[in-house]
Amino acid sequence: MSHILEVEGLTTVFDGDGGQMTSADGISFYVDPGEIVCIVGESGCGKSVTSLSLMSLLGRGGKVRAGKALFEGRDLLSMSEKELDKIRGDAVTMIFQDPLTSLNPVFTIGRQITESIRVHMHLDKEAAFKRAVSLLEKVGMPDAASVMKKYPHLLSGGQRQRVMIAMALSCRPRLLIADEPTTALDVTIQAQIMQLLKELQKDLGMAVILITHDIGLVAQMADRVLVMYAGQIIEQAPVLRLFDEPGHPYTQALLRSVPSIPRFSGSREEVLAAQEADGKRLESIQGVVPEHYDRITGCRFADRCPYEEERCHEPQEEVACGPAHVARCWKTARLEQTDGMTQEKEG
Ligand SMILES: Nc1ncnc2c1ncn2[C@@H]1O[C@H](COP(=O)(O)OP(=O)(O)O)[C@@H](O)[C@H]1O
Ligand code: SF4
Ligand SMILES: [Mg+2]
Repeated sequence: MSHILEVEGLTTVFDGDGGQMTSADGISFYVDPGEIVCIVGESGCGKSVTSLSLMSLLGRGGKVRAGKALFEGRDLLSMSEKELDKIRGDAVTMIFQDPLTSLNPVFTIGRQITESIRVHMHLDKEAAFKRAVSLLEKVGMPDAASVMKKYPHLLSGGQRQRVMIAMALSCRPRLLIADEPTTALDVTIQAQIMQLLKELQKDLGMAVILITHDIGLVAQMADRVLVMYAGQIIEQAPVLRLFDEPGHPYTQALLRSVPSIPRFSGSREEVLAAQEADGKRLESIQGVVPEHYDRITGCRFADRCPYEEERCHEPQEEVACGPAHVARCWKTARLEQTDGMTQEKEG
């Protein structure tokens, strides 16, 4: 199968007061048609920078210094604004964490959705209106016709995110990039929106890149997982493989912080109680993501890693540690071969 997206060596820098910072460093991955790929990692690891780079939405001070991002064989990173405009919000769309900042406060929901439909689907006003209402119904919006007349601030966070999803789907994208789409929402609403995204993804057969800092979400949503740490992808694997045999010590630590009880089942009270119980048991990772991580020449996780030793301070390449599974840690591969990771973990 040919990949729908193939990213190779994506490197993004920001100019700041303290000089230049390489926020995403040599990012390489692929997404297949109809696949859900999750990018997971703690806050500040370069997940958003990676997705914004793909769409050329970095804003002031940020630029892509190297790399390719082939979408259906064409490099998004070397396209003109005009070419990109044809793709963005059409074949590829993005949804973000805070829908209020993405919606225009002075226009009604109806106007914003119909405009987006008219631009991309070349429908007349009436047809676009009908399609907008049916999209809102599809994303589970109660009383869709009256929501069309409302302004964004009158909707709840969950309703606004449904509107954003409706807009993102209005032109039947082949790739949807969702950057922490439910982080700002209540846990039960979060579950509903994720369920909705998964159903729509199946229905439309679109590929999804889902960015999250929540490894629990990954378990429910992903086909394949990319783990990011300090500007690099440090592990890639199919989801079951990652949960069964995490290779990189950072991933192992992330997994130890996953609640054991499925978080999204039961009533709101049950979910919250389960989370609280888990919270008492969970182990969080000691320390923080280093601030100027691009200045570290060796393993960027070394200062937090229980297995750190001298060789860890040399540059780390991705090494194969299983089928479709790589990790950026020399020790993972060695321990895997000698079957010693378990011993070391226990020891
Ligand atoms: N607009 C910006 N200007 C300067 N630095 C930025 C900007 N956006 C992100 N960064 C830096 O890039 C790094 C990665 O950020 P980001 O991709 O937003 O992390 P994540 O999405 O994983 O939480 C951070 O160190 C952050 O400080
Ligand atoms: S390279 Fe060394 S410090 Fe880094 S994750 Fe592997 S064992 Fe830990
Ligand atoms: Mg982010």
